[in-house]
Amino acid sequence: MNKELRKAVIAGNWKMNKTPDETKALIEAIKPLVAKADCDVVVCVPYIDLFAALEATKGSNIKVGAENCHWAEKGAFTGEVSAEMLKAIGVPYVIIGHSERRTYFGDTDETVAKRTRAAIDAGLTVILCVGEYLEQRQLGITMEVVRTQVKIALKDIKKEELDNIIIAYEPVWAIGTGLTATAEQANEVNKAIRELICELYGQDAADKMVVQYGGSMNAGNAAELLAQPDVDGGLIGGASLKAPDFAAIVEAASK
Ligand code: 13P
Repeated sequence: MNKELRKAVIAGNWKMNKTPDETKALIEAIKPLVAKADCDVVVCVPYIDLFAALEATKGSNIKVGAENCHWAEKGAFTGEVSAEMLKAIGVPYVIIGHSERRTYFGDTDETVAKRTRAAIDAGLTVILCVGEYLEQRQLGITMEVVRTQVKIALKDIKKEELDNIIIAYEPVWAIGTGLTATAEQANEVNKAIRELICELYGQDAADKMVVQYGGSMNAGNAAELLAQPDVDGGLIGGASLKAPDFAAIVEAASK
């Protein structure tokens, strides 16, 4: 449709993997392989690895992200890290609302909205994750679930702030399972997300919104997924931990 208005974003989500030394080694391996990318390349790493990632990516086209942030600027929240803290060390991206946060750590649509608001206030770019569980897909309520998640997450976000939001559609049943959504399934939901952005903010905002797909994207299936008119990139888990695989996805997005 208006894909030429958007630059693809390929982001790795390393989850709870890699020490700082391993971070440096993996980024050094990825760097030369993606140097000519014609898409944005991001690696989202554990908090403990952020300094190593920032150092290793200096002067390269790879940007660094965190995997979550708290909504308060500071305070009595043991174990948490604020968006302001990420900003202070020079981290430009943050994943918010990943299904693993929602499933295992109690994130709700409301807290996802608060974290999103805080990240935008800190000047970060948010990769906002949404997606349905298998039972929800089987019940035929995928669109309601995803629309609700997006609507609540963005309820305090103004149109001019959308430039700093990327939405990642990640069907929970496809994450880490090797079960990928078909290209048609991915595009259908991504398109519905774009239509919702149009309803909420207008066609120009919808045309500009980067909507990624995530869930067992790999070197073998990336090209087909990324060729879909409403799939503007990927959020990659397992395959982002292997430099050649991640680079192959970046290459597929650069075509
Ligand atoms: P996998 O690519 O390992 O399925 O993980 C996807 C994901 O959760 C990215 O955020």
